[in-house]
Amino acid sequence: MLDMSTQTATLYQRVKGVVPPAEWLSFADDIEAILALKRQRNAVILAHNYQTPEIYHGVADIVGDSLALARKAMTTEADVIVLAGVHFMAETAKLLNPQKTVLIPDLRAGCSLADSITAADIRLLRERYPGVPVVTYVNTSAEVKAESDICCTSGNAKAVVESLGVPRVLMLPDEYLAQNVAAQTDVQIIAWKGHCEVHERFTPADIRALRENHPGVMVLAHPECPPEVVAEADFSGSTAAMSDYVERQKPPRVVLMTECSMSDNVALQHPDIEFIRPCNLCPHMKRITLANIRAALEQNRHVVTVDPEIAARARLAVERMLAV
Ligand code: 13P
Ligand code: SF4
Repeated sequence: MLDMSTQTATLYQRVKGVVPPAEWLSFADDIEAILALKRQRNAVILAHNYQTPEIYHGVADIVGDSLALARKAMTTEADVIVLAGVHFMAETAKLLNPQKTVLIPDLRAGCSLADSITAADIRLLRERYPGVPVVTYVNTSAEVKAESDICCTSGNAKAVVESLGVPRVLMLPDEYLAQNVAAQTDVQIIAWKGHCEVHERFTPADIRALRENHPGVMVLAHPECPPEVVAEADFSGSTAAMSDYVERQKPPRVVLMTECSMSDNVALQHPDIEFIRPCNLCPHMKRITLANIRAALEQNRHVVTVDPEIAARARLAVERMLAV
């Protein structure tokens, strides 16, 4: 039985649409401990939209897409930032907050896109395409960002590409994001062969089956999906843009072609909307749990560090993006 006098029981009201009471009971001890540790350590938890509901609605202070997390990381007054997301997000938070302690609860929380390209690859591309600016998706290591002219996220990629005022750019490493942006701009885009292991699995046939089985469904696709998937969708945008679309349009029936937890988190805010949920799990995002967030705050682990010389160059690329 949930003791309704506790803070955890109050929080349960936010997630009861997707989390059974017995499961929530198993989270209660960690949630209470995390809330106390945040106060003791003057810590904030930044959580990506793909985090599970008990993290997203239970302990996070700031939630959002990669762009929002980077922007909000810059303005926090906290001494400690716990990044409930993947490693490149924690590195970005560290780049923007060199004096603060940034913790990632599990060092194995990686990303197939970040793993698809190295700093040496960028140096070779620069030799092959002299003078062509390098636009790098934030889903990359600090070393890769350090070799880049400017970063972008799925929320601002088109604006970043067009801000450079050049006819041709290299846009790395997500081939599908690059192709999806190329379809919206006159700037010529040279892509790399990186893919998100979650979004590359969606197919146009999935969308056709969804439309057949759920008449009238509105299909929203993340731009890391293949272009033929985006072409069949009704809307494409970053995780925050998809969430805003649902908020604005309030479609009676919707499907988000993206990571599983995103639908849970958005559905909780819209009990009157029917969410159809074919989803793919991101194994890296799922490395983060309440237990390892608690351990991160108790044991100050794992501290994110970036070599100062690399950090200085990588920070420039991120700051240029934030100025667009
Ligand atoms: P956004 O939240 O920026 O859309 O990114 C999606 C993603 O895959 C992050 O890992
Ligand atoms: Fe990387 Fe894709 Fe997972 Fe995002 S969803 S962290 S892009 S593998």
